[in-house]
Parts: sequence; structure tokens; C-alpha cells
Amino acid sequence: TTTNTNSMISHERVASYAFAFDIDGVLIRGKETIPEARKALKMLNGENKYNIKVPYIFITNGGGRSEKARCKDLSSRLGISISEDQVIQGHTPMKDLVPVYKNVLVVGGVLDSCRKVALNYGFENVYIPLDIMKWNPCVTPYYILSDEERKIAYDNVDFSKIHIDAILVFADSRNWAADQQIILELLLSKNGVMGTISDTFDEGPALYFAHSDFVWATDYGLSRYGMGALQVSIAALYQEHSGKELNVTRFGKPQRGTFRFAEKVLTKWRRNTLESEFDKLKLTSTEQPPLKEDEGEEEVEEEITNETDSLDDDEDDEGIVLDSAKELTLDLPPASTVYFVGDTPESDIRFANSHDSSWYSILVKTGVYQDGSIPKYKPKKICENVLEAVTFAIEREH
Ligand code: G3P
Ligand code: MG
Repeated sequence: TTTNTNSMISHERVASYAFAFDIDGVLIRGKETIPEARKALKMLNGENKYNIKVPYIFITNGGGRSEKARCKDLSSRLGISISEDQVIQGHTPMKDLVPVYKNVLVVGGVLDSCRKVALNYGFENVYIPLDIMKWNPCVTPYYILSDEERKIAYDNVDFSKIHIDAILVFADSRNWAADQQIILELLLSKNGVMGTISDTFDEGPALYFAHSDFVWATDYGLSRYGMGALQVSIAALYQEHSGKELNVTRFGKPQRGTFRFAEKVLTKWRRNTLESEFDKLKLTSTEQPPLKEDEGEEEVEEEITNETDSLDDDEDDEGIVLDSAKELTLDLPPASTVYFVGDTPESDIRFANSHDSSWYSILVKTGVYQDGSIPKYKPKKICENVLEAVTFAIEREH
């Protein structure tokens, strides 16, 4: 019987190390599930020669639907049960912006899927580009709304009277031309009011992106442009129009704020895994280790410019407070090693290498990274696929 936190961490049924997985290009590619993924995760659930359970979480830059919907889909594809508490999407930490902004324009995703996510996070007034296009079709002269789009767009909202406080790009845009037109108009507006032009170009809404992936892996042979490419395009248009540099606050990998958020999610999940193993052993609550809530430091997200390669750990943080990260802080020793398996050197490997030396980066060849090329950020290990990565890490540990 183990009675303190440290001995529990080394309990024979639960590993002291852990895993974090990228999703697109590691476990899935568009509609396809990467064949080795199922077995890899089953191994972590205890189906390995050491009969050990290894805690794991998912850190994807993807999004566009609720964390719950993402888990349901991933669970059925992988044949395991995944909890919402294990998944961080690009926009997940944006829920901490709820108390900061009243009127937000949420961009990306299918129809009003992202509006639903934002409302669920608690945002008060959530608008999407389709609402603006319905309000005044002349905003996007070459695009006519489909019946389906007209149906889900809000009626009777007068955008000449509403101040959009922030633009939140939650997921990949399905209509770059229209979305860019509207985002640019608001950025250059007087206080986020449609149909106005600022004299100074410094009074528009704040702009947030759920991530900055330039490309990502789908079921097409070559990588496709992602949200980071849209960001580059908007920054270039903004600069051309105003002569100014665009300010963007980024979430997702490789940002430090996301890393801190992820560490706390992992800590919480490791505790959960340990507790359920203890439950199985029918230990009484008095034998369980002390797990007290930390007072919690305040976590802040970086304010980053349109320089796509900037990620400076020495910079002082500025910007928003990640309250939900604070809530998740628990008194548990850190994982001895966190194996992070990703396919994109610029976001995944950089993310795993930049913030904590106990994270061990593994690059797989099933996504953005192409075999034979030199990754811009060097992983500690390159593997064929996720199964090879998991097998390698478990053997390295035992
Ligand atoms: O839009 C999704 C994408 O850019 C990457 O997702 O899972 O590879 O971080 P993921
Ligand atoms: Mg990926």
C-alpha cells in the first residue's frame, strides 16, 4: 500500500512518465485514422508487456467543435474512451477571454459550429461573418449566401450600431475571401463598427488566433494551408492598407501559454489516472495521498506580433490571464518525462523543446514532416509512426 504522493507516483500500475499527442498527422489525417494509432493508445491503457498504465493527453491546434464532440469522434475512431479532461484544442484556452469581451466575432468552422462553441464557453454576444453578410450582402460583393447559411445567420442585427470588441479566429476559415474582407474592415474601423474607417487605425478590435499553423496534414497527399497562412495574409493586407504592423495574440502550439495550460491539464489527468487505479485496488480514502489545490500563479498569454517565428521565453508576459489553467494546478510531482508526439516541427517539436527540459520531442513521418527533409526544429527522436514512438518510449523507460 502506498500512502504518499511520491510513492504513489512510482506505483507499479501507473507510470511516472506520460505522453502528450498531437492529433492531425499523428492519429488522424482528415477522414482517415492512422492505422497504428489504435494499438499505440491501447498500449498506454495497459496493454503492454509491463502491464503499466501511462497517462496521456491530446494537444491539438485543431478545433471548430466542442471538446466533447472532439472526444466522441476520437474515441470511436481509436476504439478507446477519451475524456474531455484529456483534450486541449487550439481555442480551449480562449474561454478565459469570456469576462474580457462582450461582443465577439468568431471566425472559422462549418456554418455556426464555432458560435455554438463560443456560447458554450460563456461568451455573451457571439457573431459570425455570416451574420454580417446577411445584414448587408454588399459587404462581400461576390458571395451570395446559401439557403443553409441564411438560415443559421442572425436576423435583425444592425452592425452599424454594434461595437465588435474582439475577433476570435477559432478554426480554419471556410471562406477566406469573405472572412478576410470582414476581419480587415473591422481592424481598420472606428471601434469595431462596420461601415466606419479609423483615422489612426489603432482603435479596431483585438485579434486572436487559436493557432498559427502555416500548413497541416489532411487526407490529401500534400499539406494544406492552415490558419497561420490566413494570419500571414491578413497581416500583409493590414500593413499594405495602414502602414502598420498587425498585433495578434496567438494561442495553440508552440505558445508558452498553451504549454502551461497543457502542463496543468496533464497534472490533473495523471491524478485522475492514479485515483482510478487506487479505486480499483479498493483503497480507502484515508489511504489516498494529499492532493491539495495550489493557490496558483496567474498565467498569462503572450502578445505576439505578426512575426511568425517569434517565441521568446525570456520576454515578460503581457495580456490575458488564463484562469482555467490556474484552477487546474494541483500538488503532484511533475511527470518524470513527457513524451510529446507530433508531426509538425514548427509547432509540435518547437513546443516540446522550448518550455521544459523534461519534455521529450518525437517527430513522426505520417503528417506534415516529410521523410528525408531536415526539420526546422530538431526532435529528440524521429519515428515512422505513433506506434513506433510509443513502443520506443516505453522501452526507453523500462
Ligand atoms: O487545423 C488543425 C491543424 O492546423 C493542426 O492540428 O492536431 O496537428 O495540432 P494538430
Ligand atoms: Mg499535427
